[in-house]
Amino acid sequence: MIKEITAKELNTAKFINDQVKKIKTAVGKGIAINALSGGVDSSTVTMLGNKALGKQLKTVFIQNGLMREGEAERVADTFRKLGIKIEIINAKKEFLAALKGITDPEKKREAITQTFYKKVFGRIVKKSGAKFLLQGTILTDVDETVAGIKRQHNVFAQLGIDPKKAFGYQIIEPLIQLRKDGVRKTGRALGLPEELFARIPFPGPALAARIIGEVTAKKLATVRKATSVVERLLCNKGAFQYMAILHADRVTGMRDGKRDFGQQIEVRCWDSVDARKATPTKLTFETLQKLSAAIIKEVPGIVSVTYNITTKPPSTMEAV
Ligand code: XMP
Repeated sequence: MIKEITAKELNTAKFINDQVKKIKTAVGKGIAINALSGGVDSSTVTMLGNKALGKQLKTVFIQNGLMREGEAERVADTFRKLGIKIEIINAKKEFLAALKGITDPEKKREAITQTFYKKVFGRIVKKSGAKFLLQGTILTDVDETVAGIKRQHNVFAQLGIDPKKAFGYQIIEPLIQLRKDGVRKTGRALGLPEELFARIPFPGPALAARIIGEVTAKKLATVRKATSVVERLLCNKGAFQYMAILHADRVTGMRDGKRDFGQQIEVRCWDSVDARKATPTKLTFETLQKLSAAIIKEVPGIVSVTYNITTKPPSTMEAV
């Protein structure tokens, strides 16, 4: 049983101090590695790990081809400015190959997990000689995985998986007692710039969690474009998270006076405190119309845009 530390009771100075000590003791004189995705959790772990281990920590950004537009370069650049070196590893082909032909949501998640932890990471860890992986698992990830709702990509011990046996390295999870609001507080205290600690959450399986059906390079390009539009237009609405989802069903539409059997984008925008429960943001009809017009204009192949008005539960926030 993991003991929760709520954002309210969290004393960031003490928490950081305790975690730095724990990381130092665990790693000793060895080398640890961590994967930065640019999300709030992995960014906070990168700062924490850097504080504890300095040069003993190697941080990589795995370009899995499922990321948002310009993400790898933007994130590496932000950390460079903070004095932390990030190595970008190109593994696009491996992830796409692993996802080929898979339509089942949990199998997709599993394929990403295996490719990430076993193949790509296994290789990097072996090469670097690291015995430890620092990762940003948070309590909500554990809860949902254990409840069998969604297999979060980064949960092992609670499922009875020993990472040492399965992948050959140990995993350290300094944020496991926190939820998203607590992580933000910690990130801020560690000196993360606001553009990172105040960022909306982004799931580990990345844009693959936002494509219904098989993930292909073409569909990724479509959902990536739609994501840019949605993030650009909804970033100032005070919402917890917002996203574009590409559906597998096609619908009849028309473009330039001709019939077009096109694709559909579903927009979700959530109000939430800690992602356990969420309600759709009450966007104005004008905002929704602007969103639809921009998506239709900027994303090739889309003829229909919908807005999700379901709460979590019974919905989950991501579609896959
Ligand atoms: P769901 O879809 O489960 O999402 O309601 C709750 C929150 O978690 C994020 N999410 C993930 N984060 N790995 C993560 O690190 C995952 O596999 C994952 N799946 C969902 C989601 O974006 C939302 O903020």
